[in-house]
Amino acid sequence: MSEYIASIKKWCEEVLKNYDESINTLRDNVSTEKLDEWKERFIQFKEELSVEESLQDQDAYNRGSELYEQLQSLLENDSESNHTADERAEHSWETVPIGGHTLPPLPYRYDALEPYIDEEIMRLHHDKHHQSYVDGLNKAELEIQKARSSNDFDLIKHWEREAAFHGAGHYLHTIFWYIMSPNGGGQPSGDLMREINRSFGSFDQFKKHFSEAAKNVEAVGWAILVWSPRSRRLEILQAEKHQNLSQWDVVPLLVLDVWEHAYYLQYKNERDKYVDNWWEVVNWPEVGRRYQQAKQLRWKAF
Ligand SMILES: [Fe+2]
Repeated sequence: MSEYIASIKKWCEEVLKNYDESINTLRDNVSTEKLDEWKERFIQFKEELSVEESLQDQDAYNRGSELYEQLQSLLENDSESNHTADERAEHSWETVPIGGHTLPPLPYRYDALEPYIDEEIMRLHHDKHHQSYVDGLNKAELEIQKARSSNDFDLIKHWEREAAFHGAGHYLHTIFWYIMSPNGGGQPSGDLMREINRSFGSFDQFKKHFSEAAKNVEAVGWAILVWSPRSRRLEILQAEKHQNLSQWDVVPLLVLDVWEHAYYLQYKNERDKYVDNWWEVVNWPEVGRRYQQAKQLRWKAF
């Protein structure tokens, strides 16, 4: 079994674990028959992964995410048709349970972004660093829940920091994997391109601004393209570390990891080169989809 397939299999096990833990809540919302049917198909998929050479890496990812989406839409459709908004909020399984975050599978092989980002980096970055953010976030959420139920908030500052640090790490890395692609690079099109031109003057001016922001992050952190629902413009921010967001109330669209673990093995201290090469793996259609979703958020303009 390839290591990539093994990581998908591990993800399947996590999904099934969460599913089993939530099964009683699920049964309130969705017909038992549909759920059993889905679980059977998911287990069958997981077993296929163990059969040597039965699935190519990319097929395994596609099948897994398709099944996962089927479960989500099964739950969404059912809860929309049969329940009021309040009931949905109360029963909603689609929200990640407290302490129930999982590492998303990498949507392409570990070596898929070569030569721009090495396999070794991707393996370490996704399997070790991102996993530790997931674990840390789950722990922090459970500790904060414990604090709430025991009404003992003595360590809340510590755990809130942990939740911010690991939560930001988990959410930003999840975006990061998806806004890159082996078929990336080039320029965006359509609405996103028009908005980039409107907000920054031109794509070149935007790219220069974003690259300069990334190269000049103090120590570790991120460069982040955001849509501001308040100003109704795109903006570029630097996040030093990542728990210290310089703005709130924004939706990350394009994020670039400039923590050393993202490039050091391959580029050593040449972050600039890494930043310049990284543009070759940007998945613009995914960034465009994120923008389409995010722009539906509208607040009163001030
Ligand atoms: Fe990272």
